[in-house]
Order: sequence, then structure tokens, then C-alpha cells
Amino acid sequence: MVVLGIETTCDETAAALVERQGDGRGKILSNVVLSQVSEHAAFGGVVPEIAARAHVESLDRIITKAMTQAGRNYSDIDGVAAAAGPGLIGGVIVGLTTAKAIALVNEKPLIAVNHLEAHALTARLTDGTPFPYCLFLASGGHTQVVAVRGVGDYVRLGTTLDDAIGEAFDKTAKLLGLGYPGGPQVEKEAEKGDPARFTLPRPMFGRNDADFSLSGLKTALRLEAEKIAPLSDQDVADLCASFQQAVVDVVLDRLRAGLRAFRTRYGSPTALVAAGGVAANQAIRKVLHRLAFEVGTVLVAPPIELCTDNGAMIAWAGAERLALGLTDTLDVAPRARWPLDEVTGARAPDPYRSLKPSASPL
Ligand code: KG4
Ligand code: ZN
Repeated sequence: MVVLGIETTCDETAAALVERQGDGRGKILSNVVLSQVSEHAAFGGVVPEIAARAHVESLDRIITKAMTQAGRNYSDIDGVAAAAGPGLIGGVIVGLTTAKAIALVNEKPLIAVNHLEAHALTARLTDGTPFPYCLFLASGGHTQVVAVRGVGDYVRLGTTLDDAIGEAFDKTAKLLGLGYPGGPQVEKEAEKGDPARFTLPRPMFGRNDADFSLSGLKTALRLEAEKIAPLSDQDVADLCASFQQAVVDVVLDRLRAGLRAFRTRYGSPTALVAAGGVAANQAIRKVLHRLAFEVGTVLVAPPIELCTDNGAMIAWAGAERLALGLTDTLDVAPRARWPLDEVTGARAPDPYRSLKPSASPL
């Protein structure tokens, strides 16, 4: 089964072809991602109108490239999947409408994929991770701890009450005059800094639920920076190191609570799975490894190009849904907001159930 996947919910225009083999294993035939980072950099964040326009301008080309690289044409594919939300609505409309047109003209089934579901299922494409597992999704737009129990069977155990973790990294970078996206810059500066120099809060620490809150941390950082302005290079490095340490401590504490809730409700997870751009952060990865070890499971962290937004994850989620007969009609609507626990599915035997996931290297 070969599925075309289209991703346009944020600032990446992406298309991919993924094959789901008879034994349920996945194979990426092509995965083309065009980042719009340079178009948004001057604004220190994603500008929705610019994003939508950029998707319109390049999506056709990106899809053609994905088809060519995979050496397939439309008659070879079994379904067309597009991220139908959640995300910036202009971009979502571009991707979903394009998918509908391709599906209609070529008489192929359409699969409207929830973008978060695609992140959630990526570990099955890369590592064949069996259900149920605990997902930690941390990107510029989302911070969630999710019990992934089956295709279309997701229970949110925790989320952020305000900023997403990636957003907090981006805002910190902006405040300190570092570039966009901020996460990689803050991480680089943090390596040269003293994480103990500034005392920053650890919001939500010790609570029983697995929710996050990051806006207070960002404000505390701004106040510390204002106190010592103008900032030297070392000040910036120390602020970044102190901020990153606070985030790492918060992730450890909040995920520990999430894993506790998982165990109580669903038993041992087969893995702790990382997804989203923030999973690129080495300090955060380290803490995820430690946590997985602590609860007697393994960390599955897909390669970073599959943790960040891409078309392969949409195609794969489409293939998993198509295999269960979960397709959509051409009047399916794009959604700016679409919580994961509103996604529906079907119960079916999991082909990966007998597999034991292998640990990701640090
Ligand atoms: O998943 P992603 O590519 O896009 C979405 O937001 O959906 O994630 C991008 C986010 C940005 O906020 C970026 O600053 C953050 O992930 N990020 C990082 C790192 N690399 C990317 N955050 C912390 N450390 C990193 N090394
Ligand atoms: Zn994403």
C-alpha cells in the first residue's frame, strides 16, 4: 500500500510517499520538505499569511518532486493523505484542497490526518513500536503527554496551559537577540553557560497531573535579563543555560507524573516516544533516556528529520488509517483546532504487538 502525504499546517511545505508493507512495516519512498524559515526569520516567528502564500506557491512542485524521487505516478498510489489540522488555517486549506483534487481526479481514497496523530504514529514507521506507548510531543505549537493506545485511540495525559516548550525557546531567543528558530541557538549558547547562575522557577513542579506551564519561566528570565542589562556574551550564555536547565527539570518532573498516570491506567508502556522539534535538544533527550530507564522502558526517538514536521509522517498515518478502512469524504473540513482525543479510529490487531522496541542511541 503506497500513500502520498501532504503537510502544510505550519511553516514547512512537505510531501512524501510511504509504503506500508504486508507485515505492517513502513518504508519511506521519498520525503521532500521545504522550510519557510528564511521567510519568517525577520519577524521572529511564523506569519500565517506569509506561510499560506508560500504553501500555495510551492506545494505543486514539492509533490511532483516527491512523486519523481519515489519513481511512482498517481496510478501507483493507494491513497492521498493530508494534514487537515490542527494548524494555521490558511496553510491547512492549501494542503487539504490539493489532496482532495488529487484524490478526486485519480479516484483514490482521501485520508484527512490529524497532524498530532501523525507525530504520534511516527515511532511505528521508524521503529515498529507496538501499542500502547507514552508519547511526549514537544514542538513550537504543542506540548503534550499522550497515551497512544491504538490508531485513533489517544488519551491526553497532560498539556501546556500556556506556551509550548518550543515557543518558550523561541521567545527566549528573541528576548536575548538570538536568531529564529530559537531552540537550536539557545541550546548552542547554553553549552557555554552556567546553568546555576540564575534562579528561575520550575512551574507546576510536584503536581500530580502532567500539565506544563512555561510563560512564568519566560517572564522570570526577562526580569533577570533586565536586571543585568546590557548583556555580555557570557550573560547571554548563562541565561540560556539557566533557562534550558529549568526546562529540563520541568520536563523530568512533568513526564514522570505523566508516566505514573500511564502506568496506573494502562500498565507499562512499550516505550517512551519523543516527537516534535524540541526532541532535537540533547539535554532534553538525555533526560528522556533517564526517565525511560527509570520506569523500565525504552526511549524511541525517531531521527530528527522525522521528529520535526514532514510529509512522511502524514503519509504513514494515512496508511495506518487506510489499512483499517478509515477514509474521509471530499467534504471533510480543515480544522484550525483539532485535539487529539477527538480523533476516532477502529480497533484492530496490532501487527507490531509481538515486537520489542529497541532503544534509541543518545
Ligand atoms: O516540530 P517543529 O519542527 O515544528 C512545529 O513547531 O510544529 O518544532 C519547531 C520547534 C521550534 O520552536 C524550535 O525552536 C524547537 O522546535 N527546537 C528546539 C531545538 N530544535 C528545534 N528547541 C530546543 N532545542 C533544540 N535543539
Ligand atoms: Zn508538528
